[in-house]
Amino acid sequence: MTQLSDSPVRYGLVSRILHWGMAALFAAQFLSAAAHWGLPRENALRDTLWSYHTTLGFTLFLLVMVRGAWGLANIARRPTHAGAMARAATIGHVAIYGLMVLVPFSRILASGGGTRGLRYLGFQIFPAREAEIAWTQVLAEWHGQMGWTLALLALGHIGMALIWHRLVRRDDVLATMAGR
Ligand code: HEM
Ligand code: HEM
Repeated sequence: MTQLSDSPVRYGLVSRILHWGMAALFAAQFLSAAAHWGLPRENALRDTLWSYHTTLGFTLFLLVMVRGAWGLANIARRPTHAGAMARAATIGHVAIYGLMVLVPFSRILASGGGTRGLRYLGFQIFPAREAEIAWTQVLAEWHGQMGWTLALLALGHIGMALIWHRLVRRDDVLATMAGR
């Protein structure tokens, strides 16, 4: 029977759906950021890819809260890391989690204290203010840099999973998340 919770042998169904679903959504989010960065203004493809950035970013913020809570609830029975790379893997995952929270939070906070407000799926999350609250804008100045750092960490993470674990070490780490 399919197990919902994590076990020392593999991640459960909930963790796997969250991991792979969010990986796909992050790919779409980095694509929209790349279009914003690399394509000229007034470009139809840039407009299309950028049009979902806030909505998808807010969705990812909600999902990372769920994933973090589920991860904490399962922490005692999750697959553990062994060997010399164990500490590096844990530090890497914690860094990815930290940025998965901070990157969207920085812009959500800025919207909360900003003059344009924030709408999400038709709901007014924050109203537009008459005057900006200065301190809420500080972290957002680093939103782009933190976002690109997260993209680099994710690339390194994928490299570790596919090249180091699958091809070099030939261990079971990929299988714990792939589910087979
Ligand atoms: C995990 C979610 C998110 C990721 C990975 C992400 C990533 C990025 C990246 C890499 C850039 C830089 C693009 C460039 O260099 O031109 C960027 C820009 C931007 N993002 Fe996000 N973002 C996320 C969530 C959000 C949310 C929730 C909002 C709004 C509430 C938002 C609003 C913006 C805006 C307005 C910019 C352009 C100004 C700037 O660079 O700060 N993002 N995002
Ligand atoms: C092709 C893409 C990807 C592959 C092959 C992959 C593979 C894996 C594997 C094998 C694990 C288990 C590692 C372990 O327990 O030591 C894992 C965990 C993890 N992955 Fe990925 N991953 C991918 C994409 C991503 C992306 C895009 C992110 C986030 C931006 C991400 C974030 C995480 C995190 C935070 C964990 C720790 C476990 C958790 O709490 O979910 N992964 N990944």
